[in-house]
Amino acid sequence: MKLWSKGFEPDKMIEEFTVGNDRELDLRLARYDVIGSMAHIRMLESIGLLQSDELNILLNALADILDIIDNGDFTIEPGVEDIHSQIEFMLTERLGDTGKKIHSGRSRNDQVLVDLKLFMRDELRNIAQAVNRLFSRLQSLSEKHKDVLMPGYTHLQVAMPSSFGLWFGAYAESLVDDMRVLQAAFDITNQNPLGSAAGYGSSFPLDRRKTTELLGFADLHYNVVAAQMSRGKTERAVAFAVSAIASTLGRLAMDVCTFMCQNFGFISFPDELTTGSSIMPHKKNPDVFEIMRGKCNRLQSIPNEIALLTANLPLGYNRDLQLLKDITFPATSTLIECLDMCDFMLAHVRINPDIISDPRYDYLFTVEDVNRMVLDGTPFREAYRAVGHAVADGTYHPTRSVHHTHIGSIGNLANDAIAEKMSAVMKNFD
Ligand code: ARG
Repeated sequence: MKLWSKGFEPDKMIEEFTVGNDRELDLRLARYDVIGSMAHIRMLESIGLLQSDELNILLNALADILDIIDNGDFTIEPGVEDIHSQIEFMLTERLGDTGKKIHSGRSRNDQVLVDLKLFMRDELRNIAQAVNRLFSRLQSLSEKHKDVLMPGYTHLQVAMPSSFGLWFGAYAESLVDDMRVLQAAFDITNQNPLGSAAGYGSSFPLDRRKTTELLGFADLHYNVVAAQMSRGKTERAVAFAVSAIASTLGRLAMDVCTFMCQNFGFISFPDELTTGSSIMPHKKNPDVFEIMRGKCNRLQSIPNEIALLTANLPLGYNRDLQLLKDITFPATSTLIECLDMCDFMLAHVRINPDIISDPRYDYLFTVEDVNRMVLDGTPFREAYRAVGHAVADGTYHPTRSVHHTHIGSIGNLANDAIAEKMSAVMKNFD
């Protein structure tokens, strides 16, 4: 049975092809569909399209359905197309004609849009919190190990002294920039499309400000066509934010794999957090970070996938848009899973406290020694040449002392200032 049934049932193959895995994916929209409907009917009552007793009956029935959803007992029955149909059928089953009144002034096109906006708004908040947890972990590791030096590389060649304070702190600050992208996605998401109906509004005097307020949206998508256009556009903004965070996380995962390699030996993890080989008895592999790197690389493809899926679509609703759920729903969950896993792993990271006494890192200190000569009065280019010659003829001996004091350097990490930036961004997700 279809909401749009007019006396014939569609061919089974057609139905399977068009519904696809919507029944499964839509379960994640269930509670938002109920919440959206509650706001819609309150508004309908306020403009005289529902009586107040009808409103109360409908609200009670919707509250019961919400309980079923929250208890995990909700399903979309076989033969029912999507979440919107399932909830409307449940209401009509329980309430008869009153249930049938709920859809006045609304189409599934704005209904799915409002569900998605509410769902993605929560997902973005969940991502923000997961990023913030990892951020705090990185900052505290940065502080804890701020005096432990490690090699810094350029061109993957030994370059200058770095530190665990800098390394962990760098990823923390980098996440702040990603959070600004996430915030842009949040602002785009946090606008009410309800009342745009099929995409061209309604002849009922809908009070769109009321539903905006009831659903806690920051603003409306005013123009009904623009509201409909926000499907795809919102997902694209979310995808860019997911991709930005995934890029930072993927890079961190790559660093971890490198630094765990025996040739580096900078960090390690307890045995139970590593994986083994079926043939090489000595192996302790970084599979967690490899899977994370792979997942994060895949996540970076979703803006492209969405761009291609939505390229040159005609204005208004098109069924292609349904496929967006397939891309965005798993993406936000995967990202949160990776963020949490990274946080969990880093809680157990072990740091090699004595990396740079190894002679293979002697050249890390050439610039320090040049600078010391400069401070003692030798012009820079002369000091550079002198140290360069010592390196070339094998007489260079590093002093191995590092004295960096400027803001953002090894000796002055500015972690407090970075934490302030993060908490300012976090406030925008309240
Ligand atoms: N499952 C559909 C989607 O996600 C719901 C909207 C259906 N609208 C329609 N005009 N067929 O897009």
